[in-house]
Amino acid sequence: MNLGIDAISKDSSARLFERARAVMPSGYTRNMLVTKPHPFYAVSAEGPYITDADGRTRIDWVNNFASLIHGHNKREVVEIISQQAARLLSATMPAEWEVRLAELLVERIPSVEQIRFMNSGTEANLIAIKAARAFSGRSKVAKLEGGYHGQYDLLEASYMPKAEEWGDRERPAVLAHNAGTPRSLLDELVLFPLNDIATMREILMRHASEVGTVIIDPSGLSLGTGVYADREFLVALRETTERLGMVLIFDEVWSLRAGYNGTQGIIDVTPDLTTMGKMIGGGLPIGAVGGKRDVMSVFSVDQGEPKVKHSGTFTGNPMSMAAGFVAMSLMTPGAFDMLAAQGQRLAAGLKRALVDTKTHGHVVNRGSMTNLLFTESIPVDYRDLYAQLTPAVSALSASMPKLMAVEGLHVLRNMFVGSTAISDADVDQTIAAATRALTAARQA
Ligand SMILES: Cc1ncc(COP(=O)(O)O)c(C=O)c1O
Repeated sequence: MNLGIDAISKDSSARLFERARAVMPSGYTRNMLVTKPHPFYAVSAEGPYITDADGRTRIDWVNNFASLIHGHNKREVVEIISQQAARLLSATMPAEWEVRLAELLVERIPSVEQIRFMNSGTEANLIAIKAARAFSGRSKVAKLEGGYHGQYDLLEASYMPKAEEWGDRERPAVLAHNAGTPRSLLDELVLFPLNDIATMREILMRHASEVGTVIIDPSGLSLGTGVYADREFLVALRETTERLGMVLIFDEVWSLRAGYNGTQGIIDVTPDLTTMGKMIGGGLPIGAVGGKRDVMSVFSVDQGEPKVKHSGTFTGNPMSMAAGFVAMSLMTPGAFDMLAAQGQRLAAGLKRALVDTKTHGHVVNRGSMTNLLFTESIPVDYRDLYAQLTPAVSALSASMPKLMAVEGLHVLRNMFVGSTAISDADVDQTIAAATRALTAARQA
């Protein structure tokens, strides 16, 4: 039996999807990738480019939803992965790589004095909530209405609530994201709107005796929406949570890529705990929870039984730790500057594309993250975004990734996530391709 990589079939994406449908519900294992009539199956990638099973190569502006900060197959990262794989894949002994990655992140991220690792952003948020509850002694958690923090059912609630059900702005209804979610779990969640300081304060004060944890992605609402948090809002949230004795968690799973010291370094607001993932694994699965020593002491076994018992078969595995350490070491302040310049060049070009094609829209850029929005104005919170997603705006937003794919771009949710592998020439090619896609959209 040929177990080598050349044993992989030459099936087209359509045929692979047919095979997938027979053995996986609807053919998928990751709902974020659902595409009609079928997804493109990836075969290989190099630097900024990804090639599918149909032989099409495109510029990759998704970078596995922000985890591939160096694009694909960065030489140093591939080398350490191969060397480490030959030496030790995983074991029930810690390896030095976890110490090295921990040292690097503690040195860079302002709020992080100590850290622990896990295998995804979802897991990081789940463990961070346990830590915050143990520390505060209060079980309820508050998050943004419309905020995304991964797959933990408590935090998934009201990720995409509908207007008919969401209730008053001052008392948002907590709505299950999945059938079967226990009501008792939803009762543990409190919601507040983004960028509305007065309402956020009022809601947190009303629930002050029960809420011990507040979690927010400091970049804003959630990936792909282009709805960003005002700095003043985050400053007010920090002040309010501190005053009310609540543990503030910054979910930087996504937003850490904004700068050398994360988003918290840019806005100069320090949370109690920070969750991380994606880019810190160099392309391999990872998650991390870090924070001040006092909160992190809930994990400590020094005084006997810890308040929070955290473990896991692949926790701190040497493959993710080694790849993450190398990828992060290459992310110098200069590399972040380069990504910011790339984002600005792209944003300026996409703005020109909107004007040239007479398309109503907006381009929002933060560092290596650039969003193309077709809403009337730039939304300030979830309800504003929802209200602006008219059938025409939704149809255009949904058609653009497909039109851009025809033009040689891999873009999901009209969000462009940069990488150090993307050159100025790739950016210019992207702007030209997006302009053609916008023209095609107008003609459709
Ligand atoms: C802000 C944020 N938190 C958490 C997660 C979940 O991370 P993972 O998919 O690694 O579980 C994501 C994923 O996109 C995210 O954007």
